[in-house]
Amino acid sequence: MSQPLPLKVDQIIEDSDMFRTYVFKHNLRAKPGQFVMVWLPGVDEVPMSIGWQDADGFEVGIAKAGDCTTAIFEQIKPGDRLGIRGPYGTAFSLKEEYKKIIVIGGGYGTPPLLSLSQKAIEKGVEVIAILGARNEKYLVYEEKFKKLGCKTLVSTDDGSKGHKGYSTDVLEQVLNEEAADCVYTCGPEKMMVKVAEMAQVKGMDCEVSLERYMKCGFGICGQCCMDNTGIRICKDGPVLRGESALAHPEFGKYTRTASGIVKEI
Ligand SMILES: Cc1cc2nc3c(=O)[nH]c(=O)nc-3n(C[C@H](O)[C@H](O)[C@H](O)COP(=O)(O)OP(=O)(O)OC[C@H]3O[C@@H](n4cnc5c(N)ncnc54)[C@H](O)[C@@H]3O)c2cc1C
Ligand code: FES
Repeated sequence: MSQPLPLKVDQIIEDSDMFRTYVFKHNLRAKPGQFVMVWLPGVDEVPMSIGWQDADGFEVGIAKAGDCTTAIFEQIKPGDRLGIRGPYGTAFSLKEEYKKIIVIGGGYGTPPLLSLSQKAIEKGVEVIAILGARNEKYLVYEEKFKKLGCKTLVSTDDGSKGHKGYSTDVLEQVLNEEAADCVYTCGPEKMMVKVAEMAQVKGMDCEVSLERYMKCGFGICGQCCMDNTGIRICKDGPVLRGESALAHPEFGKYTRTASGIVKEI
């Protein structure tokens, strides 16, 4: 196990009341899709995806969800340190032959798709980014995707920005109009199930990034195992092939709490 590195928070960007980007000046050398464990001493340690990254540093986008993330929002100021372990987990695969990809992110699930898009654009792969959220306030990184050069399409459930309805409606339209090599998704599981099923019908590659409650983060404790195969989302995931995710009965239906109790999604 790697020891947490006490990394200084260089900058905090307040994207919205409930979502902030924490910038670290440290070359993490992570692959797009991997995550780090973020430790606030005396409170907790939580998994967070790696968003933007380059040789100068990396970013994690944190949504205020509960005890630890609220404490990070309240206690951590620029110049303070957080413990960072990782990078851990599987990465998105970007095959050499891919010419055009689609990324579809729901709300706070969007960050890992930004580092994937960054890598794709660097390699000359065209990226269509579909960003969905409950309303405009919950949309994440629209400007960053646009600045990268992605064709960026937005949907909100209430129509406050972009298409009114689900991001999968936009995906359906894109799939009818464009030939893409792979669709990658991270966000609410019901959305990811729909995306994986749509890709399966089209016979195209698909990768999904899952979240399960994590403790160790590197495959030892068994907290994040999926029924019925026992794969560990921290080590064998978080990125899975669409068809592999669909083969798990809990995908889109339930998850487990810290004490292993089943919780419906
Ligand atoms: C691989 C991975 C990548 C993630 N990336 C991001 C990200 O980029 N940005 C982001 O905002 N969130 C991300 N999350 C979710 C984030 O880890 C949880 O929201 C966070 O742990 C909540 O902690 P808390 O103490 O504030 O909330 P709690 O009060 O503990 O609970 C709030 C909610 O978060 C869930 N949760 C709590 N602890 C964990 C844990 N250790 N692992 C998984 N879920 C947990 C709980 O089940 C509950 O639904 C990711 C989770 C995983 C597994
Ligand atoms: S969190 Fe311990 S095995 Fe995955």
